[in-house]
Amino acid sequence: MAENLMLRREGFKLGTFSSNCSSGMTVTKIPERWDASWENNLKLGRMLDEAGIDFMLPIARWIGYGGETDFHGGVLEPVVWATALLASTQRISVFATVHTAANNPVVTAKQIATMDQVGGGRAGLNIVAGWNKPEYEALGLDLPADHETRYGYAQEWFDVVRKLWQSDTHFDWEGEYFHLRGVKGAPGPVRGGVPILNAAGSGQGREFATRNADYLFTPAIDLTRSVDEIAALKAQAAGKGREVGVLTFSHVICRETEAEARDWLTHTAETNADWEAVDNLVKLQFAHAQSFPHDLLAQIRHLMAAGHGGYPLVGTPEQVVEGILSLHAAGFAGTTLSFVDYAEEFPFFRDRVLPLLAQAGIR
Ligand SMILES: Cc1cc2nc3c(=O)[nH]c(=O)nc-3n(C[C@H](O)[C@H](O)[C@H](O)COP(=O)(O)O)c2cc1C
Repeated sequence: MAENLMLRREGFKLGTFSSNCSSGMTVTKIPERWDASWENNLKLGRMLDEAGIDFMLPIARWIGYGGETDFHGGVLEPVVWATALLASTQRISVFATVHTAANNPVVTAKQIATMDQVGGGRAGLNIVAGWNKPEYEALGLDLPADHETRYGYAQEWFDVVRKLWQSDTHFDWEGEYFHLRGVKGAPGPVRGGVPILNAAGSGQGREFATRNADYLFTPAIDLTRSVDEIAALKAQAAGKGREVGVLTFSHVICRETEAEARDWLTHTAETNADWEAVDNLVKLQFAHAQSFPHDLLAQIRHLMAAGHGGYPLVGTPEQVVEGILSLHAAGFAGTTLSFVDYAEEFPFFRDRVLPLLAQAGIR
């Protein structure tokens, strides 16, 4: 059995996010935007693994956001993607992202257990209760208008998954949403479960996350607000006798000089942003999700273009380290990283930023 790095308590966690999706996290028209091919993901996964990065997190996306580039219109399916990466790496933890409404929990329980068997205990599961209405319509699914129903369904769905992982006998399930006969889930995950992520922003979603997840994802827009938000989430989990780590997502443009980094930001996410896709993304967030606080969402159109709203880590290696240290000081347990071209830009981050983080004592 391998160690699952997401179960390790110490150290500020670093992962990547969205490398399975076309354009990654940058809503740009430049030809060098991320090509989410399997070859690129495999190359990236092996580099991250060798560099000691903790995890990779995919986005489950079924239709793109339109615009000239149809942002996220090309996507490698997360369970298959994660399994192949686990089979091709040694140490890194790899998550699958799964929409509860689109996936039968008996099937998901088996898929995640299989991933974990392939990876020797390095799998993880990111649970999405739903928010993207056009995507649900594309799949022929109804997105419940209210968060109570979305998360009530997600809770029963996950209760089924967990029971399948832990039960070694056949059982029936008679719930509100699922009626199962004589199910059994062998083999289960290597440790009987896997690290669980959830990225809810709503009150109902945070009840779900603090009850079920090991890590909750939340955007870092205003770090003074993050300090209070993280304290509240930890208190909410403690009230349930649980601990939850709070993670965020960041977008990296790291160059030898600050001017070079800023020029690349302007080139990718201002001059050549796919504004139509950005506006579709922002509109959908307003309509159906509470992942970004709505008062801040209106102010961060430029951050949505640069890195899907990720915390900007733009500048020299020293400035990027400073940014990561400020996330750590705010109480975040870790962050994902995205790059315009992950495979091309990660080596500079590895060689110049990782040693400074080790020196600073957070990794
Ligand atoms: C880091 C992160 C990862 C997410 N991954 C996905 C994803 O892959 N697919 C998806 O449809 N939604 C994804 N979401 C959306 C959340 O799961 C959640 O549905 C959304 O934030 C709405 O929150 P709410 O249901 O509390 O309003 C992600 C959000 C964040 C912040």
